[in-house]
Amino acid sequence: MEFHNIARSGQVPEGVVRRVFVGEVEIALARRDGTVHATSNYCSHLDCLLSSGKVTEDGLLCSCHGSVFDFATGEPLSPPATRPITVFPVREDDGQIWVGVDEELAKSAMRRRAARSRRTPPATSAR
Ligand code: FES
Repeated sequence: MEFHNIARSGQVPEGVVRRVFVGEVEIALARRDGTVHATSNYCSHLDCLLSSGKVTEDGLLCSCHGSVFDFATGEPLSPPATRPITVFPVREDDGQIWVGVDEELAKSAMRRRAARSRRTPPATSAR
């Protein structure tokens, strides 16, 4: 797995959620109790951006409908979400934050509704 240097430590202060990209992979980066966590930026419920959410005592709160996700496992701790979000490995060394991304993680972190938005619209008929 390749680790990517995506931010300086100072860019992710305690309790803040930031949106970062590794290529086309959109990641929510947050610090809680001194530790940096990286997850997919899309909520597993209805794709809201988790970078608009909040760090709570339990995990990452989605601001749309209130699901909280465990930072370590990505599992939802409260409804309405029922599926986990993708969690990426993080390293923080010498004032730099590194996130590990491989093909499988990148695929699982994609937006749920992306496939639906690619559907061909119904043909219109002219009279
Ligand atoms: S989109 Fe996140 S809880 Fe609904």
